[in-house]
Amino acid sequence: MSKNTVLITGGAGYIGSHTAVQLITQGSKVIVLDNLCNSNAEVLNRIHSITGIRPEFVKGDILDRGCLDKMFAKYSIDSVIHFAGLKAVGESTQIPLAYYQNNVTGTLVLCEAMAAAGVKTLVFSSSATVYGEDAPVPYIETMPRGKTSNPYGTSKAMVEQLLTDLCKSDPEWSVALLRYFNPIGAHPSGLIGEDPKGIPNNLMPFISQVAVGKRKELSIFGNDYPTDDGTCERDYLHVMDLADGHLAALGCLSDGGVHIYNLGTGSGTSVLEMVNSFQDVTGVEVPYSFAPRREGDLPAFWADASKAEKELGWKASRTLDEMMADTWNWQSKNPNGYDD
Ligand code: NAD
Ligand code: UFG
Repeated sequence: MSKNTVLITGGAGYIGSHTAVQLITQGSKVIVLDNLCNSNAEVLNRIHSITGIRPEFVKGDILDRGCLDKMFAKYSIDSVIHFAGLKAVGESTQIPLAYYQNNVTGTLVLCEAMAAAGVKTLVFSSSATVYGEDAPVPYIETMPRGKTSNPYGTSKAMVEQLLTDLCKSDPEWSVALLRYFNPIGAHPSGLIGEDPKGIPNNLMPFISQVAVGKRKELSIFGNDYPTDDGTCERDYLHVMDLADGHLAALGCLSDGGVHIYNLGTGSGTSVLEMVNSFQDVTGVEVPYSFAPRREGDLPAFWADASKAEKELGWKASRTLDEMMADTWNWQSKNPNGYDD
């Protein structure tokens, strides 16, 4: 990748920090904009330790137009990778307005500031959730967006539409909508990783917090799904592969318009297989029990990831064993995340 300047909104967060490392390593200049509502400034020290370079950091909010304008005036930004937003599915049903405000209005304000600054290249963090509740597997980009079941998912679908309309209105915009499947794992150094605040909503950080002794046991939500072992199947991919997917997308965004890519491995793994794999790779036991199904969970979905391979030359290459080993390396070295 050529030497260029990339603004990463939400760059102190889980996926943003790994993407920052990969961009810096490839020679880009990185500006991180984050309000730290779900992250810790210590991550910047860790990025520095890994890469030898500290990204420029702006503590600010994507909803703050004045802050965005100042930032675009100060730095000569070529493109934006937009991670900033709220992401807890359950919480989004309790405080929907905060989700629409941050995720939808936040993106709108960001796009207005970008347009004013003449920066029209954007990579957006979308989600497999936009395929909706009734989509057949594997999910493929040619399928329409489906019926979403919570404000978080709806906010992602709304932003996809907003960005599609923007690109139709002005051919100078180039936008990638990256539909992530289930990112897990951590940088192999163990210096950065996923550091959820409070009780983790997601499977992998819950497993690793049980393993490190912070939580007593894992509840597996449902063992009566129509899958091989009765537990839900998801397409887990290594966060380093996901980070690389952003670099690949950025490298191909030159011809205008909206480009949609699934970023996943193309195969599903059940919750029980995840627990067993973690135990096999780490040698650490993860006590679990079966609990009722979690509302809104789908039995099984995974990506058709062939479009990203064909058009971006990107393919998830890290194995499930690496995902487990890197998760444990991070969690065991940082039992309390960045608060250690
Ligand atoms: P994260 O919470 O670790 O990172 C998001 C970052 O954005 C945080 O550092 C937070 O402080 C910041 N932020 C939130 N609102 C902001 C605002 N208004 N202004 C400035 N900063 C703000 O989450 P993540 O897992 O790294 O996810 C990044 C993106 O990817 C999110 O948009 C999320 O919805 C999307 N996504 C994540 C997953 C997943 O499983 N992690 C799956 C699909 C899509
Ligand atoms: N699970 C448990 N116990 C837990 C946590 C999760 O059994 O303590 C199970 C869930 O029931 C599900 C599987 O583990 O079957 C994966 O759950 P996650 O919460 O880790 O992931 P989801 O697939 O539910 O959701 C993720 C992201 C969403 C995104 C969605 C689709 O969190 O943001 O993928 O991309 F919308």
